[in-house]
Amino acid sequence: MIISERIFDPERTPVDNLTIRPQYLWEYIGQEMIKKRLLLAINAAKIRNEALDHVLLVGPPGLGKTTLAHIISNEMGTNIHVTSGPVLEKQGDVAAILTNLEFGDILFIDEIHRMNKSVEEILYTAMEDFQIDIMIGKGPSARSIRIDLQPFTLVGATTRSGLLSSPLRNRFGLIMELDFYSEDELKIILKRAANILDVKIEDDAAFLLAKRSRGTPRIALRLLRRVRDMSTVNEKKVIDIKMVEEIMKLLGIDENGLDEMDRKILRTIIEVYNGGPVGLKSLAASVGIAEDSISEVYEPYLLQSGFLARTPRGRIATKKSYKHLGYKKVGGLFDGQDL
Ligand SMILES: Nc1ncnc2c1ncn2[C@@H]1O[C@H](COP(=O)(O)OP(=O)(O)O)[C@@H](O)[C@H]1O
Ligand SMILES: [Mg+2]
Repeated sequence: MIISERIFDPERTPVDNLTIRPQYLWEYIGQEMIKKRLLLAINAAKIRNEALDHVLLVGPPGLGKTTLAHIISNEMGTNIHVTSGPVLEKQGDVAAILTNLEFGDILFIDEIHRMNKSVEEILYTAMEDFQIDIMIGKGPSARSIRIDLQPFTLVGATTRSGLLSSPLRNRFGLIMELDFYSEDELKIILKRAANILDVKIEDDAAFLLAKRSRGTPRIALRLLRRVRDMSTVNEKKVIDIKMVEEIMKLLGIDENGLDEMDRKILRTIIEVYNGGPVGLKSLAASVGIAEDSISEVYEPYLLQSGFLARTPRGRIATKKSYKHLGYKKVGGLFDGQDL
């Protein structure tokens, strides 16, 4: 079997994803507070016949931000226009999109923290007053004209709200921070997906998959696809726990759901930096991956599951890490303590 894709790269989305993606709030598992707040805001906007307030969705990759953006448009019964921060290079790009929006439409900007300043500035008045000022012509004959927009809803997605400038962040009426999912919630997501993909999966197999998915639906679904492949190749009708265990071994995923890269990050802190603290830059250089990958993709789960801690002076490996990776003694801050 050839495994070329990185199972834990939560940035990648497979093709048959669309059929698995929940379309309405009632199909969206977990994130109960967010669903309640959204439902209230959506119902109120509908009754008043207004555009929904601007929504900022915050959370690590794979937790369901893009899915929620589409759900918002389905629930509102309006169109969605999808773009992303890095794609909007010039003021003209965003002006063209904004002037095409109809009443109540959703403009979804993924990776909204990666917009450049001039594009961001045009959004300020667009969001606040549904107006934009654009420059026509060049040199002495240049003038600025004001264009009225239809009331619309900006839905922005970002990995951390701190990455946004405060003027931009303050223009969102609804800021929603997504949490990692519980094992039970992931199990429900997996069962639902298995149903759609037309595979049967035993309960304990689904639960084990859920446990190894780092609280992240996209990872859970990707793992499910790999076990499904195995069941297809082995002509097994039902996915059982043995198959899940085998896949985990094959993919190098341990009992805490950590993969090679997670362990490499922890081991580097322990072996190269004596347990830390170490700054992001040095850590990224030693591990050999981009700083962003560490802080946006790997670190959130390692922090939340207690393998990594952040101090004012940098990241440290916790006792839990030492233990998990099989070290006998703890170094760094907890020097010499037995495990
Ligand atoms: N709450 C949820 N219930 C069911 N499926 C979900 C949920 N959240 C995410 N998913 C699934 O997980 C995958 C990743 O979600 P996505 O919205 O693309 O994440 P993000 O945009 O935050 O990176 C999608 O295939 C989606 O169907
Ligand atoms: Mg997304």
